[in-house]
Amino acid sequence: MTKAFIFDLDGVIVDTAKFHFLAWKNLAEALDISFSEEENEQLKGVSRFNSLQKILEWGHKNISKEEFNRLMEKKNEEYLSFVDQMSKDDILPGVLETLNYLKENNYPIALGSASKNARRILNKLGLNSYFDHIVDGNEVSKAKPDPEVFLKGCKLLGVAPQQAIVFEDSQAGIKAANTAHMISVGIGDKSVLGEADFNFEGFSEINEKTLKTLINFKK
Ligand code: BG6
Ligand code: MG
Repeated sequence: MTKAFIFDLDGVIVDTAKFHFLAWKNLAEALDISFSEEENEQLKGVSRFNSLQKILEWGHKNISKEEFNRLMEKKNEEYLSFVDQMSKDDILPGVLETLNYLKENNYPIALGSASKNARRILNKLGLNSYFDHIVDGNEVSKAKPDPEVFLKGCKLLGVAPQQAIVFEDSQAGIKAANTAHMISVGIGDKSVLGEADFNFEGFSEINEKTLKTLINFKK
């Protein structure tokens, strides 16, 4: 059975998760809402809109629609100021080796990210040409854990969900992949991403043999 690959972006290809954390933390603290790594974990993979809604709920704050939009913009500006300092050197260890192997062996590859900044980030990293298709936060109406982003990716790649191998660092993303009966691969802490079919700390743990195991796995 032909297989195809879908990569999440933030926290999988590049450690932008730390920039999201910093920008949300600054915003939350300015509103007198406490914000730790634990809360941040619940925002991974979650859209910008839903993330702000969650933070405001945690702080029991009600704000106007205008203020909500202003805060989303403010957070994004700060986030992008970090992102714009990134370069190829920020690609996480092992990612390029995996992408090169998949490209050399003609596996179709898509990006499946909640981020509206995905194209800008791939450009900064010089990774655009690896992806046959990009599905990002501008193209979906339902955020992860809804599988819409991954299902769109499958459609574009021309494979059934069971043929798609998804790399994800978030609980929401693993849930999305599992709901759609895709092969889910957790990248990061296994105690957080234990629901995935496979778990790795990072791509440096993934070699040719591992990729073959993923490719031969039947759900
Ligand atoms: C996800 C991140 O990839 O994208 C989330 O894990 C983020 O933390 C979401 O909120 C939306 O990203 P952006 O760049 O559109 O704010
Ligand atoms: Mg992610």
